[in-house]
Amino acid sequence: MNQTLLLEMKQITKRFPGILANDRINFTLHPGEIHMLLGENGSGKSTLMNILSGIYKPDGGEIFIKGRKTIFKSPRDSIKARIGMVHQHFKLIDTFSAAENIVLGTHKNFKLNKNDIEKKVYDLAKENGLEVSPRAKLWQLSVGEKQRVEILKLLYRGAEILVLDEPTAVLTPGESRDLFSNLKKMAREDRGIIVITHKLHEVIEAADRVTVLRSGKSMATLEQKDFSQEYFARLMVGRKDIFSFSENITLEPPGEKILELNNVQALNENGRLSLKDISFNIRKGEIFGVAGIAGNGQRELAETITGLRKCTSGNIHLKGENITNMSPSEINAKDVGHVPEDRVGTGLVPGLDIINNIMLKGYKNSFSRGIFLNYKKAFSKTGEILNEFDIKLGDPSGPVSLLSGGNLQRLLLAREMSSNPALLVAVYPIRGLDVGAIESVHRLLLEQRSNGTAILLISEDLEEILKLSDRIGVLYEGTINGILEKQNADLEKIALLMTRVKNTGEINS
Ligand SMILES: Nc1ncnc2c1ncn2[C@@H]1O[C@H](COP(=O)(O)OP(=O)(O)OP(=O)(O)O)[C@@H](O)[C@H]1O
Ligand SMILES: [Mg+2]
Repeated sequence: MNQTLLLEMKQITKRFPGILANDRINFTLHPGEIHMLLGENGSGKSTLMNILSGIYKPDGGEIFIKGRKTIFKSPRDSIKARIGMVHQHFKLIDTFSAAENIVLGTHKNFKLNKNDIEKKVYDLAKENGLEVSPRAKLWQLSVGEKQRVEILKLLYRGAEILVLDEPTAVLTPGESRDLFSNLKKMAREDRGIIVITHKLHEVIEAADRVTVLRSGKSMATLEQKDFSQEYFARLMVGRKDIFSFSENITLEPPGEKILELNNVQALNENGRLSLKDISFNIRKGEIFGVAGIAGNGQRELAETITGLRKCTSGNIHLKGENITNMSPSEINAKDVGHVPEDRVGTGLVPGLDIINNIMLKGYKNSFSRGIFLNYKKAFSKTGEILNEFDIKLGDPSGPVSLLSGGNLQRLLLAREMSSNPALLVAVYPIRGLDVGAIESVHRLLLEQRSNGTAILLISEDLEEILKLSDRIGVLYEGTINGILEKQNADLEKIALLMTRVKNTGEINS
């Protein structure tokens, strides 16, 4: 027992059916520090922190808060102990305003008036550099803004131990830098911050200490002076070769036009023009990468193509057929795969089990037998997919909401790719994945390409875009600011188009 520690977790053990998720883990947090938890998908990071936030009960081990042994019977006890966690998937209410979400559940016995609440939230936001408009409804906010609302919610409740589960998985590089500089400010003398990540460079940039998990075990806790990417990688995966990527898949010249957009326009939720006059095409067996800073129309572009958003002007053709403003299910039936930005919600149904999530897109056709569902077929298909895409799960009949972030993403990709669609719209496909998983997703995308799928790859990771794309379109304020061929593209040219006015002389379509 150590009085000067904010938190001490000792010998924490947690079992799930078939898996030892946490195996006698020790973890401490000093006041004022940022302590990161690093590990591959499924290594037990979220589990450990869910124990700290009272969501899971440990099978063994003890927790001390400021030297006092504490047992959490529920999340409420953890909140009382001034622990606050921002989860991988946000838990906010869409129809409430930012301010309402932040104060929700804190003023039981008296009613605060709306202006007071908004003022309080505004001040709190300002003090912590977490800019957000208190009156905006949640659904109007970007993912980065929603995250700020989640953090403010915890600060509003006086959190002293702040836990963020992969906060940068949903952020642009710029937003991530802002977040870390804010976190450094927030980690004052009376507050400690735990950040879950599998990005090695984030540890180097922003951590005071790091604990590395592998297969449920703590491999080491390191101080800044011992930080090195190679060392982290070795502790995480036990091998060093994870940085290399070899592209040994044959490149066929792209074939006929699969997707064609002509002068497409669309509005955002606020009725503002968010896609202005977009034209490009993708050929069979081609990866068309869309680069750009998030919020420049990426989401609207994917949604308009897949029928989730109305196209207000212009037209979209798939294999020569006009699909403009067809319903999402009509478009899906035309052999289109979609890996959306928000996996839980648009992509997967959290309360359903894995089999039903796999069946989700085929209820009407591949898995129906008359008016009944063909469970047998769905069952064997699920087995095939899990096998082929190497998804290891404790219990396939549990709800997908229990899967680790990385496994969720793999499941979604697997479902969308398993039918070899004519067109695959992949929005931030590697978000939340560890280095090993990223490589396997990239390999899958390249294989799909060789199988003739036309792929629209939306990503904020320029290295990823450059590595995979045959052509690159750069989105800037709702327009395609330029299209570069792979052989003419480099980081600098893309970055210029991302931030500035058109014309580097490479524009075609
Ligand atoms: N409620 C649960 N029921 C059954 N198995 C679970 C449950 N929660 C987690 N697991 C399993 O425990 C292991 C650790 O999962 P955890 O979510 O802690 O991983 P993680 O390190 O956060 O991974 P990621 O980086 O993918 O988010 C995984 O194999 C996961 O499938
Ligand atoms: Mg996790």
